[in-house]
Amino acid sequence: TQAPVNVTVTGAAGQIGYALLFRIASGQLLGQDVPVKLRLLEIPQAVKAAEGTAMELEDGAFPLLAGTDIFDDPKQAFEGTNIALLVGARPRSKGMERGDLLEANGGIFKPQGEAINAGAADDVKVLVVGNPANTNALIARSHAPDVPADRFTAMTRLDHNRALAQLAKKLGVPVTELKKVAIWGNHSATQYPSVQHAEFGGKSIAEAVDQAWLENDFIPTVAKRGAAIIEARGLSSAASAASAAIDHVYTWVNGTPAGDWTSAAVVSDGSYGVPEGLISSFPVTAKDGKYEIVQGLEIDEFSRTRIDASVAELVEERDTVQKLGLI
Ligand code: NAI
Repeated sequence: TQAPVNVTVTGAAGQIGYALLFRIASGQLLGQDVPVKLRLLEIPQAVKAAEGTAMELEDGAFPLLAGTDIFDDPKQAFEGTNIALLVGARPRSKGMERGDLLEANGGIFKPQGEAINAGAADDVKVLVVGNPANTNALIARSHAPDVPADRFTAMTRLDHNRALAQLAKKLGVPVTELKKVAIWGNHSATQYPSVQHAEFGGKSIAEAVDQAWLENDFIPTVAKRGAAIIEARGLSSAASAASAAIDHVYTWVNGTPAGDWTSAAVVSDGSYGVPEGLISSFPVTAKDGKYEIVQGLEIDEFSRTRIDASVAELVEERDTVQKLGLI
C-alpha cells in the first residue's frame, strides 16, 4: 500500500478550509486510491476551532484519511509536505490601502515560503488561494529559492469554472462540451476571461456569441462574480473556491485531457509578453505532474488590450512588494 501524501492546509479553520478538508479526506484531491495525511496550519487563536474540524474529520471515518495534525508554526506545518494549499490570508479591512494589504500578507507568505524552502518534500506543489493570490504566491516563491519555480501556483481555476458555467448557460450545452476557455492575468476584477480560442462541440464560441455580450455581460459577470456572491450570501465564495482548489491540484497531478486546457496562475517564462517571473494566469496543460503554459496562440487585438491591462496590475503589485522589501 502507498504511503500517505502529506497535504498542508493553511487557514484550516476558515470557511474555505471547512469546505475543502472534507473533500480532501474523501479522496477528491488526488484520486480515490491515494491516502492522505492532513497537516493544518492556523494562527494560535484559531487552533481550537481547527481542533473541532479535526474531530469532525475523524467522525467522517474516511478510508483514505491517515490522520490530521494541527500546528500554529509554519516550520512544523510544512515539514515533509507534498501538497501545500495556502488558503489563510489577511483580508482587506475597511480603509486599508492596497500597499497595507500587500504588506500584511507579506508577513504571512514570507515565513511560509521560508518554511516550505526549509522543510517541504522534494516534490512539493504549492497552490496559493489566499488573496491577493498571485502576489502572495510571488512573495512565498521568492523566499523559497531551493524549490523549482514551477511548483508555485496561484488559483484562477474558480474564475475558469465560473466562465465555463456562464458559457454553458448561454449556449445551452453541458460544461463538458466546452473546451479551451482561458483566464489571463490577475485573480482580480482586471482578469481577462477569454473565449478567443474556445470551442463548444467543436465549433467556435467566439463566432457563436456576439462581442457585445462578451464585453458587457460575460467578462464582467465572471470578473465580478466574487462580489456578487458576497452581496447575495453575506460571505465570500467558499465551497466553490474549495471545489476549484480541488480541481487545480487534481488536474496538476492527473493531467489535462487531450485537446483541452485549463487556467492557472503560474510563473511566467516571458510568454505572451508577460514579464518573466510574474505569477500570472495563462491557459495551461498538465502532464506528468507539471503545468505548462500553452504556447503559440495567436492573440487578437481585443485580447491583447485586456491581457496587458491585467498584467500591468500584476507589475504594479510586484513593484509595491519589491519596494516594501517583501521579495
Ligand atoms: P476566512 O477568513 O474564513 O478564513 C481564513 C483563515 O485563515 C482564518 O481561520 C484565519 O485564522 C486563517 N489565517 C490567517 N492568517 C493565517 C496564518 N498566518 N497562518 C495560518 N492561517 C491563517 O477566509 P476564507 O473565506 O476561508 O478565504 C480565505 C482566503 O481565500 C481569502 O484571502 C479569500 O480572499 C481567498 N479566496 C480566494 C479565491 C480565489 O479564487 N483565489 C476565491 C475565494 C476566496
